[in-house]
Amino acid sequence: MNGKTSEDRKQRITRAFAARASGYDSAADVQWLVASRLAERIEAAPLRPNGRILEIGCGTGFLSARLAEAFPDAELVLTDIAASMLERCRIRLGERPQYRVLDGERPHGLEGGFDLIASSLALQWFVDLRGGIDRLGALLAPGGRMMFATLGRKTFGEWRQAHGALGLVCGTPEYPGADDFPWPPAAPHRLEEELIRQPYDDGHDFVRTLKALGAGEPAPGHQPLSPGSFRRLLTSLQSEFTATYHILYGELYAGEPR
Ligand SMILES: C[S@@+](CC[C@H](N)C(=O)[O-])C[C@H]1O[C@@H](n2cnc3c(N)ncnc32)[C@H](O)[C@@H]1O
Repeated sequence: MNGKTSEDRKQRITRAFAARASGYDSAADVQWLVASRLAERIEAAPLRPNGRILEIGCGTGFLSARLAEAFPDAELVLTDIAASMLERCRIRLGERPQYRVLDGERPHGLEGGFDLIASSLALQWFVDLRGGIDRLGALLAPGGRMMFATLGRKTFGEWRQAHGALGLVCGTPEYPGADDFPWPPAAPHRLEEELIRQPYDDGHDFVRTLKALGAGEPAPGHQPLSPGSFRRLLTSLQSEFTATYHILYGELYAGEPR
């Protein structure tokens, strides 16, 4: 993708999330579950109780609330690319954290030295995942760690299959797997996977949920289906439809893991 195309895509992603901030929570069952699972991992990690914590793509604050509760003495910097998401987060958490509108893959203007950088289901929107993780890793304090959840390759396999069965091209972006995750070279890391199988009433319910979250932006360069093809697709998914969310829980360490 050239610079202009990727900038356009990022603007569409930002606008879509910004427009859905007020209704996000009621559509975000899987996002809530994943944020809870990531929070459990973070709470079990050997972290300084009064350290500095940066969250990327905090959205309305599912993970942020758990961080604030688990680390009452920490400095919390909560960030998101969409200002209205950040505003919902502020309504949930109040004035204790710092809030910054920030493109997480270009974290300019932050002081660095974070003991923890956390992110739940935001990194899959990065245009340059490898570069973004590398730049975030550089903001860790010695001994610090980045802990995130993002989408993996098997995500929405059923949706891809339904397209394939009709000879249609699926717009779901390509996500990395555990075997080809773009870690910075030589950086100590760890990765675990989980498959969450989420039921929907039918294909239409699945599409409606993604739109309600602001998560409808397709893969770069994808041509939308014609109305007729889209109708055929939804007709093929008229009974209960299960979508797999392949979650990658990653950890990146600044120095050897403690
Ligand atoms: C699926 S929501 C997840 C929000 C929240 N972490 C949660 O678990 O509910 C994705 C969030 O990432 C944000 N986002 C997308 N691209 C981003 C980027 N490049 N930098 C920072 N945030 C981004 C969106 O605005 C949105 O709030």
